[in-house]
Amino acid sequence: MDLPLSPGTSGDRAASIYRELLDAVLDGRLAAGAKLPPSRALAASLGVARGTVTTAYDRLTAEGFLVTRVGAGTFVCPDIEPRRARRAPVGAVRPRPVWESLPPPVADAAPTEFDLSVGGPDTTLFPLAVWRRLVSATLRPSLLTASAYEGGGHPGLQAEIARYVGLSRSVVAGAEDVLLTNGAQQALDVVARAVLDPKDVVVVEDPGYTAATRLFASHGAVVRPVRVDAEGLVVDELPGSARVVYVTPSHQFPTGAVMSLRRRIALLEWASRRNVVIVEDDYDSEFRFEDRPLAPLQNLDRDGRVVYIGSFSKTLMPSLRVGYLIAPRSLQDTLREAKLLTDWQGDAVTQGALARFMSEGLLSAHVRKVTKVYARRRQALLDGLATLPAGVLQVLPSAAGLHVCTYFVDRGVDDVAVAADAARAGVALEPVSVRFRGSTPRPGLAMGFRRIEVDQVPEAVARLAAVLPGPGQAPT
Ligand SMILES: Cc1ncc(COP(=O)(O)O)c(C=O)c1O
Repeated sequence: MDLPLSPGTSGDRAASIYRELLDAVLDGRLAAGAKLPPSRALAASLGVARGTVTTAYDRLTAEGFLVTRVGAGTFVCPDIEPRRARRAPVGAVRPRPVWESLPPPVADAAPTEFDLSVGGPDTTLFPLAVWRRLVSATLRPSLLTASAYEGGGHPGLQAEIARYVGLSRSVVAGAEDVLLTNGAQQALDVVARAVLDPKDVVVVEDPGYTAATRLFASHGAVVRPVRVDAEGLVVDELPGSARVVYVTPSHQFPTGAVMSLRRRIALLEWASRRNVVIVEDDYDSEFRFEDRPLAPLQNLDRDGRVVYIGSFSKTLMPSLRVGYLIAPRSLQDTLREAKLLTDWQGDAVTQGALARFMSEGLLSAHVRKVTKVYARRRQALLDGLATLPAGVLQVLPSAAGLHVCTYFVDRGVDDVAVAADAARAGVALEPVSVRFRGSTPRPGLAMGFRRIEVDQVPEAVARLAAVLPGPGQAPT
């Protein structure tokens, strides 16, 4: 343990070490049972004789604050009660009022026997051994001497991403167009910093991605939810005052709808008549199970108003915190500056390892491999849902991603209560109504197939069936 005692040089050092340690024990800063450094080590770090420290330790031991265990060391007495536990003061200062009005975050479903929750990938599929090799290859002396506070991130990774999204997603970009971020979330944050004034209107999808809504609201934007149907965002209902439109056209979150080509063109035409920035979040469409993907908005954009955002949270792991954005030239300098202002250029080791992972062709191979695993799990889940009584759940079509979305046919169902019953029955899944902000929430259940084994699906569906309400009205 590192004990930050003051190194004072004059006076009775044993007495001042005693007092500082006693204060720390009484305040609870040195917790009951905590191990103290060996007297020799503490003496060396304070530049005093060892006997000075042992005098202080002996006195505290005699008074019952410390105990010595032969061969193990000196510890704070395990049953000591901090007498005047000093907590941080409640505080006279307050956050900006906007933090009190943010929509609440959607909590992760608690872990259960059958995991149909929505979120990151199956991390047991993460290529850990390969990643270790690449991290270790990246940790070179040159990394230590490189300037830590400049640049736009790992240039090799920027180039790899430009190539990858060009080939796999038809995104038009060179290496210099790619700005590395800590996940999609930071990409949204720097876009907000770059283009939003307080009270600017940001359109989000309804239902939609709560973390994006909260982020824009935290910047002081007025968030306007706009309805989503089977063709994606309903462009006809966009408010003329919008400054930013945030969309997930490849795989709408959470409904799974793919924005139709007609709507994509309508959105771009609508935006080009106004001073609107379109933020295209393509967070999980690498996992594609059926049809060929439509060209992203970024590819169809003719006047430079789409910011394309991607993430490695689904293809690899959310805790890597790597994402990127590809913006029109007119925004690039400001976005780069906004990124540098928030956390400089990000984590060079992770970015370097990922660059190697991609340049060795391992990302594409990994995506191909895990897509096969997810395809089997997805099919098993869809087959299982098809065995449920008709007229209860309407499974929404979805060709990509790691979850499927369903709506209750009966719009009066309390999906939060059904999800809670399912959790009690051992099945984790997510109610859909919590993702609505504006229009009347529709009840439904979103189900991830990322972490469910094929042979677990029948039992999971049987348990779900047992908590579902009876058939409702025909779909409207
Ligand atoms: C709509 C959407 N965008 C982006 C992400 C990824 O965010 P990040 O890259 O910050 O982990 C997710 C993850 O669940 C998501 O659902």
